[in-house]
Amino acid sequence: MAREIQDHWFKEAKRQGYRSRAAFKLIEIDDKRRILTKGRRVLDLGCAPGSWTQVAAQRTAPNGIVVGIDLQVVTGSFRGSPVHLLQGDAAELSDETLEELGLDPSSPFDVLLSDMAPSTTGSRDTDHYGSMRLCNLVLDLAAMRLSSGGDLIMKMFEGPGSKDLLERARSMFETVRPAKPKASRSVSREMFIVCLKRSKSIAVDHIRDELAGGPPPLTGGWGS
Ligand SMILES: C[S@@+](CC[C@H](N)C(=O)[O-])C[C@H]1O[C@@H](n2cnc3c(N)ncnc32)[C@H](O)[C@@H]1O
Repeated sequence: MAREIQDHWFKEAKRQGYRSRAAFKLIEIDDKRRILTKGRRVLDLGCAPGSWTQVAAQRTAPNGIVVGIDLQVVTGSFRGSPVHLLQGDAAELSDETLEELGLDPSSPFDVLLSDMAPSTTGSRDTDHYGSMRLCNLVLDLAAMRLSSGGDLIMKMFEGPGSKDLLERARSMFETVRPAKPKASRSVSREMFIVCLKRSKSIAVDHIRDELAGGPPPLTGGWGS
């Protein structure tokens, strides 16, 4: 049964021209929350092979902007809003990199997406804490690069650290809701956190503390 459901999303992705079945997770969340509206500026973290980027570019078209980042190279063309692709570690996204893309780094994004996942090891705890590290990085980036009133959708692998993460998200956003889209395997501990309306002020010390204890760079350099 589980295999049939997998095949269904896989075939549907092929049929509709999406790069992966992951597209349907974002589509289901966004159909309910209406986050990816026309003209919004989107930062898509962990974007390879690019199906969330496709959805974001289509839904924000024609005059939105999508910046996609992944450790892996992502190529090809996208329909809709202009898409900028970067290869590198999301933790290393700098003002200079955004400037090189012709973007103003002082102009924040309206939406942050993160489908980032650590390389899975088979150990539930190791994978969970790898995911927590990435989710905390996403919240750091939300503090620095998301507009006040901006929205975030991020993936996490559930486990003992989830409660603290949700608490941190609640301290930064007006509304925080879990989501488990149909295209996400029911056996997987993957779930999505939808964070709506980032607060105007976020304690800077708190962000600095998080960054000080944050992850070391995973790779060096940037490419487009
Ligand atoms: C599940 S895939 C993303 C699928 C994508 N949303 C799509 O729809 O095509 C997770 C991605 O996160 C990326 N990733 C993990 N850690 C990262 C990091 N620190 N910086 C950038 N990308 C990262 C991985 O390389 C992987 O491609």
